[in-house]
Amino acid sequence: MILTVKDLHVSYKNRKKNSLKYDEKEVLKGLEFSIDENEIVGLVGESGCGKSTLAKALLGLIKSKSGEINLNCKHPQMVFQDPYSSLNPKKRISFILEEPLKNLTDMTSEERRKKAEWILGEVGLDKEYLDRYPSELSGGQRQRVCIAQSMILGSDFLIMDEPVSALDVTIQAQVLELIRELKIKHKLSILFISHDLRVVYSLCDKVMILKDGLIVEQGDRDKIYRNPQHEYTKKLLKSAGITI
Ligand SMILES: Nc1ncnc2c1ncn2[C@@H]1O[C@H](COP(=O)(O)OP(=O)(O)OP(=O)(O)O)[C@@H](O)[C@H]1O
Ligand SMILES: [Mg+2]
Repeated sequence: MILTVKDLHVSYKNRKKNSLKYDEKEVLKGLEFSIDENEIVGLVGESGCGKSTLAKALLGLIKSKSGEINLNCKHPQMVFQDPYSSLNPKKRISFILEEPLKNLTDMTSEERRKKAEWILGEVGLDKEYLDRYPSELSGGQRQRVCIAQSMILGSDFLIMDEPVSALDVTIQAQVLELIRELKIKHKLSILFISHDLRVVYSLCDKVMILKDGLIVEQGDRDKIYRNPQHEYTKKLLKSAGITI
């Protein structure tokens, strides 16, 4: 297993107005799941149910209250929804891609440049893009750069938080196809967060349905889509107009 999660609880504490007391709100209420090598797991649930909170907790960006997170992978990385705000607008693509190599390896600048060229090719962009700024790329190209950046250290586990939601439908399809190819070629495991059940169906091997801080249903994609057990899953599939 690349990731195993047991009884994970995460809560946020907010200071009450005009008071020294804190309000604690539990967002994740005991999650249990695992992700296998070379598997894409879709995480579905309505806005505010805790999907991004889970992503951040898994990477240690926020503290869990209790439970276990066992990561057994190399360089886990996150890809965010908005490729524009997650790329530094003042830096060229070459800088953006080479930065992790600068910080975490002893590669020479020539080796870094070569690696950046190579990873850009892996996400379907010509090396000429290395000298551009993020604002000189389309939304789809920017998201390709974000994916390249997340992979450049040789990551085998990516968390993608709504990575295609900001893209229009044809570009969405191209980026999804890229993710499928990269998964196979680079043996990636991916936690793919989305509110779009059609996108999840087209990409994921397994699916987890999150509601009110709990996973109400999880399993193989076809099992969930053909034979949903939980009322909430049925409702989601029905409102997306999906019948399989
Ligand atoms: N830093 C924070 N402090 C307090 N509450 C927070 C914080 N971040 C998120 N929350 C709350 O936690 C809950 C879960 O938020 P989260 O961002 O994980 O939802 P989400 O499922 O990713 O939603 P969306 O689909 O809209 O992205 C929400 O009620 C949100 O208001
Ligand atoms: Mg979110």
